[in-house]
Amino acid sequence: MWTIGGSFPGPTLKAAIAVGMIVEWQNRLPARHIFPIDHSLHGAGRDIADVRAVVHLHGGRTPPSSDGYPEEWVLPGHSQTCFYPSLQHAATLFYHDHTMGINRLNTYAGMMGFCILRDAREDHLALPEDRYDIPLLICDRILRTDGQLDYPVSEKPGEVWVPEVFGDAILVNGKLLPYLDVEPTLYRFRIMNGANGRFFRFSLANKHEFHQIGSDQGLLGAPVVIKRLTMAPAERADILVDFSSMAGQRVELISDSFSILQFRVASSISKSSPVMIPATLHPIERLAESSAVKTCRLTLDERMDDVQRSMGMLLNNTPWHAPITEKPVLHTTEIWELLNLTYDSHPIHLHLVRFQILDRRRFDTFEFQSKGTLRYTGPARPPEPNEMGWKDTVRTDPGMVTRIIIPFDGYPGRYVWHCHILEHEDNEMMRPFEVLLS
Ligand code: C2O
Ligand code: CU
Ligand code: CU
Repeated sequence: MWTIGGSFPGPTLKAAIAVGMIVEWQNRLPARHIFPIDHSLHGAGRDIADVRAVVHLHGGRTPPSSDGYPEEWVLPGHSQTCFYPSLQHAATLFYHDHTMGINRLNTYAGMMGFCILRDAREDHLALPEDRYDIPLLICDRILRTDGQLDYPVSEKPGEVWVPEVFGDAILVNGKLLPYLDVEPTLYRFRIMNGANGRFFRFSLANKHEFHQIGSDQGLLGAPVVIKRLTMAPAERADILVDFSSMAGQRVELISDSFSILQFRVASSISKSSPVMIPATLHPIERLAESSAVKTCRLTLDERMDDVQRSMGMLLNNTPWHAPITEKPVLHTTEIWELLNLTYDSHPIHLHLVRFQILDRRRFDTFEFQSKGTLRYTGPARPPEPNEMGWKDTVRTDPGMVTRIIIPFDGYPGRYVWHCHILEHEDNEMMRPFEVLLS
């Protein structure tokens, strides 16, 4: 693998909010890439070196010069020093490569890791900690019979890029078919979907329920009892699993037909830790639609070739290099309506900000594409209970308008928003936006 800090996942950065971190990311990669590059993708031409890297802290409220802008990659032998002020709430963030045109390859190679921010508000809740608080980076990979990582190339003659990658080897913190020794008590798992494109639907094989206490940007208002957890790439879910009724048992975390992780529950606990699920976490103030100064209608589009094969996706039918069109003003709130005209779900992520999901609503995509008018064909559905907190990545389903409300707090400057299916992102499903001072 190509990793950050020599392990996969990379070392977990742990910090208290508002302390600030300075990280020097050094590119010490070898001169040759381990995966085939598609030189026809924007920003990955033959005139550009194959091996490049730039790191982005996903979910971080980061000044633009430290955010890992996709075009600000560095070559081997060079480094980048980033400042992460961490002026935000406690949350499970992650860092990963973001290099223009090869982000899917670098990240797939293993360049990602966790960053956990804590705050006093969360510490007061006495949630499980230390060895009872475990981050789980779950991803799929394709392994060759010799055990090496494989990344597929297109079956179309002369082409390289593939629209999606699904591996049948599921890795948890880099381990294949893993188990975890646990005690019959309460655990906190910070799950992160680190797949390039796979959605997971997690559940416990014994059908036991668990509690979700947090999402991308920190704690929910109150724990949500669930049996099944859907996670798109880049989404995070903070869950509590109570093994106290499962002493001596083996319990599997599964996703559809995949066995993800086996918990081996000991027969007794080593120290008496209080098994307590708080009734409330911290209040989430739901943003009023009236607080938005602007509503932007943005489409997710699929380009097809003459035999209806996908040639890639676009945001608002606009390629990456076109002039910036989204220019929110710092400290104002906007509503973005994401109209998914494609046949896939796309997890849409915005850098810098956190947002709330307003609703999802079915609409007539044919009428929109032929006449440009937006006609809803179903009722607005509120977000799922576990989506009622702060998010930085949202699942936008096909044929639906997904509305999010975004306070543009943080820093002025240039950032990006994109689909977090990395194959899409690398092939034009990414756009810049610029936060203006006024
Ligand atoms: Cu996970 Cu543009 O980021
Ligand atoms: Cu990000
Ligand atoms: Cu996508």
